[in-house]
Amino acid sequence: MSTSELIEKLPKAELHIHLEGSLEPELLFELATRNKFSLEYDSVEQLRKAYVFSNLQEFLDIYYIGMNVLQTEEDFFDLAAAYFQKALQDNVRHVEAFFDPQAHTSRGIPLRAIFSGFKKAIAAANDKGMSVYLIPCFLRHLPAIDAVQTFVAMEPFLEDIHGVGLDSSEQGCPPSLFVEVYDQARAAGLKTVAHAGEEGPPEYIWQAIDQLKVDRIDHGNRAMEDSLLVNRIVERKIPLTVCPLSNLQLGVVSDLRDHPLRKMLDSGIVATVNSDDPAYFGGYVNENYLHAATALNLSDKDIVVLAKNSFTGSFLPDASTASHIADIEQIEKELVSRS
Ligand code: HPA
Ligand code: ZN
Repeated sequence: MSTSELIEKLPKAELHIHLEGSLEPELLFELATRNKFSLEYDSVEQLRKAYVFSNLQEFLDIYYIGMNVLQTEEDFFDLAAAYFQKALQDNVRHVEAFFDPQAHTSRGIPLRAIFSGFKKAIAAANDKGMSVYLIPCFLRHLPAIDAVQTFVAMEPFLEDIHGVGLDSSEQGCPPSLFVEVYDQARAAGLKTVAHAGEEGPPEYIWQAIDQLKVDRIDHGNRAMEDSLLVNRIVERKIPLTVCPLSNLQLGVVSDLRDHPLRKMLDSGIVATVNSDDPAYFGGYVNENYLHAATALNLSDKDIVVLAKNSFTGSFLPDASTASHIADIEQIEKELVSRS
């Protein structure tokens, strides 16, 4: 079986996907027309051409403009349903999906429209055998009090979320600023994750672990600069949700052959492969596996480990994780019997 066949065949979980980052230019134009929202771009092609970034902020500037077209419950349904469809095609069986409530409430969109739209799309995905957990992220470029207020506003929807996260501009916005809202989230029984070490220093990863007490780190690339930190991540089995194509498009690595994924696996880190913002970075999860595998010369065994890690690193109950891993082991047996 070829590498791409193996990747397609393996059941996977996706743990680092921003739903707004799955807004494809075609849907973006459709929603702009539906909502009579005028865009600066004349065509899908022109918009796609603008997707050239040299760092995180350049991407975020265009990402926040793009999501202005999301206005009604139906828009949020269409957004999520389109992503779940793509993920199903990639044999993704479980998704832990991020979204940015403050990027919508700040435009006057009610939380209820967001949650109702997403929940309908999740119900449809569940019917097709895919489980989905929602993880709203706080925007770290906004004041920490805004995050606290957003968390209070989400109280009626706590049943609908599994955890909280932290995203947006990293440099100069350290995790330590968000201790209060993370304490509140944990007290409410939620899981916690945070983007750290994408552009920011290893110190931000330490803060996410020690002060926010996160269950998982998103990206975490720069952990590899600090061997004590690597030891901590390995000892505590803190999963990293790695996003190869995102890292390439945002200049976190200049070449995928320099990506730290292989070193992470070799160090014993529970690293996972994810798409981050697939509409902007040129590939959904299987494309991320394939590009990483090719650039880093990953073996079939490495690829199987990554698929297993995606479930071990998830917030699924142990029995569900075990059942997905048993499915992966079936495929592993086929590999061994062929070699
Ligand atoms: N980093 C930070 N914030 C984000 C990202 C990312 O990669 N994608 C969407 N919001
Ligand atoms: Zn991200």
